[in-house]
Amino acid sequence: MQGAARWFFTFAVLYAIVGMGLGLKMGITHVHDQIPTHAHIMLVGWVNSALMGFFYHLFPVVGASRLAYAHLLLQTAGTVVMTASLWLIYSGNTAFEAGAGIGSIGVLAGMALFAWIALRQIWKG
Ligand code: HEM
Ligand code: HEM
Repeated sequence: MQGAARWFFTFAVLYAIVGMGLGLKMGITHVHDQIPTHAHIMLVGWVNSALMGFFYHLFPVVGASRLAYAHLLLQTAGTVVMTASLWLIYSGNTAFEAGAGIGSIGVLAGMALFAWIALRQIWKG
C-alpha cells in the first residue's frame, strides 16, 4: 500500500485495537456503558477507514493526490473528535455533546468529499 491508502489502513487497525479493547473492558466488567462509543469506533473507525484505504489502494494515483490527503485529514480529525467525545459523554461529561456534533459533521463532510473523489473516479470513461 502507498499514499493515503497506507495511512487510512494504519488508522483503521489502531481504531480496531482501541475499540476492541473497550468492548473487552465492557464484557469483563459487565458495565455496558460505552456501547455507542465502542460501536462507532468499530464502524466509523475500523470499518469506514479500512474501506476507504482499500479504495485508495485500488486507485493509487488518486491515493497519492493532495485531495486524498485532505480527505485523510478531515476524516481522521472527525473520527477522533467524534469518538473521543462519545467516550467523554458516556463517562458522564455531557458538556462534550458539542464535540460529538463537530466530530460528526467532520465525519459526514469527509464522506461527502470521499463521494466526490470516489464516484467521479468509478464513473468516468
Ligand atoms: C474483541 C472484540 C469485541 C468485543 C470484546 C466486543 C464487545 C462488545 C460488547 C460487550 C457490546 C455490548 C453488547 C450489549 O450490551 O448489548 C458490544 C456491542 C457492539 N459491538 Fe462489539 N465487541 C468486539 C468487536 C466488535 C467488532 C469487530 C465490531 C464491528 C466491526 C463490533 C461492533 C459492535 C456494535 C455495532 C455493537 C452495538 C450493538 C447494538 O447496538 O446492540 N464489535 N460489543
Ligand atoms: C456522522 C456520523 C454518525 C452519527 C452522527 C451517528 C449517530 C448515532 C446516534 C445518535 C446513535 C444512537 C445512539 C444511542 O441510541 O445511544 C447511533 C447509533 C448507531 N450507529 Fe451511528 N452515527 C454515525 C455514523 C455511523 C456509521 C457510519 C455507522 C456504521 C457504519 C453507524 C452505526 C451505528 C450503530 C450500529 C448504532 C447502534 C449502536 C448502539 O446501540 O449504541 N453510525 N449513531
